Amino acid sequence: MTQKLSKSFWEQRWQSVDGGTPTVTASPNHTLREVAAALPPGAALDAGCGQGADALHLAERGWTVTAVDFVADALERGRRAAEQLGAEASDRIRWREADLDSWAPPRESFDLVSAHYLHGIASRTAAFGRLAAAVRPGGTLLIVGHHPASLDISGGTMPQAVFFTSADVTAALDNRWELVRVDDDLPREVAGPEGSPLRLRSSLVQARRR
Ligand SMILES: C[S@@+](CC[C@H](N)C(=O)[O-])C[C@H]1O[C@@H](n2cnc3c(N)ncnc32)[C@H](O)[C@@H]1O
Repeated sequence: MTQKLSKSFWEQRWQSVDGGTPTVTASPNHTLREVAAALPPGAALDAGCGQGADALHLAERGWTVTAVDFVADALERGRRAAEQLGAEASDRIRWREADLDSWAPPRESFDLVSAHYLHGIASRTAAFGRLAAAVRPGGTLLIVGHHPASLDISGGTMPQAVFFTSADVTAALDNRWELVRVDDDLPREVAGPEGSPLRLRSSLVQARRR
């Protein structure tokens, strides 16, 4: 078991987002943009989508997206932002409230399964395994998170144990996977509490289902 962050922890974090929360962003993740740009649009799962910036980015580019989070407020923010895209793109996103610690996405159903900064899952390997199982043969799994050696971005509210390395992700993958990119030193800069930049380090696994 890894360390769980409760739903109420994340609900409070989303409630405080307009006051400035350093770990959430309204912009799509750079790694998601980069990986998706090299793929033909298909079906995507955005796991732990938060306010859905990645889901919106994909939908604008023709993907149909299932965007999953267990915080209703975050999903609502995403829905509202999607309305600004216009009906065609916004209709391509299905918002789903579910706990990724137990919810199993449909198997072999997505061309891209992406999870960015999904932290605080109790059974991380099992959850990553379920995400991997949702990728179709030939599809892509992309998991990015804060590296445990990154400085304490949460001001002590999140234990370092919720962060993970690429090895924590690849532990969930078997020989049906080709590792396309593995990185434990991906730089990430976010705005800190006083607006000063915080330089963080991310772990990334991009894998292709054979
Ligand atoms: C740091 S935010 C990242 C949001 C978005 N992926 C991004 O990169 O901006 C982590 C998100 O994961 C969600 N989350 C954490 N644990 C979850 C769980 N067990 N089930 C569903 N969502 C979860 C939180 O509610 C939060 O929205």
